[in-house]
Amino acid sequence: MPAGIARRDGVLHVDDVPLPAIAAGAGTATYVYSASVIRERVARLTAALDGVPHRVHYSLKANANGAILRVLREAGCGVDVVSGGELHRALHAGFTGRDIVFGGVGKTQRELKEALDAGVKLINVESDSELRLLAALAAARGVVAPVGLRINPEVDVENAHHYIATGEKGHKFGIGLPDALRVGREALAMPSIRLVAVDMHVGSQLHSFEAYREGMSRLVELARTLRADGAPIEYLDAGGGLPVPYGDEEEPDVAAYGAIVRQATAALGGVELLVEHGRYLVAASGSLLTRVLYRKESGHKTYVICDAGMTELIRPSHYDAYHQIDAVGDVPGRMTADVVGPVCETGDFLGLDREIPAVGPGDLLVVHTVGAYGVAMASRYNARPLAAEVLVDGSRWAVVTAREQYADLLRHEVASPQWQEA
Ligand SMILES: Cc1ncc(COP(=O)(O)O)c(C=O)c1O
Repeated sequence: MPAGIARRDGVLHVDDVPLPAIAAGAGTATYVYSASVIRERVARLTAALDGVPHRVHYSLKANANGAILRVLREAGCGVDVVSGGELHRALHAGFTGRDIVFGGVGKTQRELKEALDAGVKLINVESDSELRLLAALAAARGVVAPVGLRINPEVDVENAHHYIATGEKGHKFGIGLPDALRVGREALAMPSIRLVAVDMHVGSQLHSFEAYREGMSRLVELARTLRADGAPIEYLDAGGGLPVPYGDEEEPDVAAYGAIVRQATAALGGVELLVEHGRYLVAASGSLLTRVLYRKESGHKTYVICDAGMTELIRPSHYDAYHQIDAVGDVPGRMTADVVGPVCETGDFLGLDREIPAVGPGDLLVVHTVGAYGVAMASRYNARPLAAEVLVDGSRWAVVTAREQYADLLRHEVASPQWQEA
């Protein structure tokens, strides 16, 4: 059973809250997060980095829920954002410029201006054309932009789905290794740019840390050369990517990961290590609570049709991701079934060919380890309002995102369009 979840008196609890109480109070489908699991993850990661100056920046893209952001802020984290919207959410949750690293492969002019206005700690640029645009925007504002170069260290990663590997040769992310020095030297000649960091993010859900070792050593070498050329390098940004077990895999050896990035930081010296983890910090904290609508047999298969599907959790169909599924109550008997949603797509499933308790209509199911890239990737396909979100803290729980209503689906629709002549 994932951390924070336990069966007591035959009923699954998140921390000390029985899930049927949440289903009764907030309805289904609902995302349920455990604050204590998030705090415990931050503590574990922070301990692994102890020994060198460091800051854990939470990667907002994994889950930008404001209540989760507040838990992370109170636990001492900064954030890593990749859009103006994420920057807005971070500021709204109480983070200040000094807490924020702004990354992303395609920042717009507006987003770069917003990053400058917020006084962010670091803007990680991913191309020479972005660097030139940022230099012009900073000069026009009379400020000096703190810049990191996101490098594509061109390392092979293991065990990442190919959609979430980002640091191999030819990927769209970062500045290719052979061009890094040239772009760095260009930055050094720009009066409105202060080249303070080198950065990489080699992928997500990385089970082997070899890519970190190799990538970090390339990053350190580049930082040394840039320093020799006069760059005031203050930060070494190692990105995110720590994995979580979704099935019966082992928990990652965070201490071993920490040793790799600490060693690189110490080898360079005089820098603060930044990490940008998303999944590791929040995935295990989240459960998706869903009610079974129907059970039916078709073509020798049993289908369990739930009120959550790919609109709430797209990871199974998008990444072939596996998530454990459990009955919330003590349901007798077992069966093999496809656990699917109500969306009009054959690709709408939460789990295929699963051996699960023999649930039927009205029973509650829980899908585990969905705190990262769950609600963050949700959609309103089939005009389905977005699910509610609940935070549990010990024996207390609260709705932190209200369930959308039908009216929300029409909120931005223009009832009387103002036609303009071309
Ligand atoms: C630049 C950057 N940093 C950090 C992350 C977070 O990755 P993870 O959630 O695997 O830690 C991502 C994920 O795509 C990313 O693109």
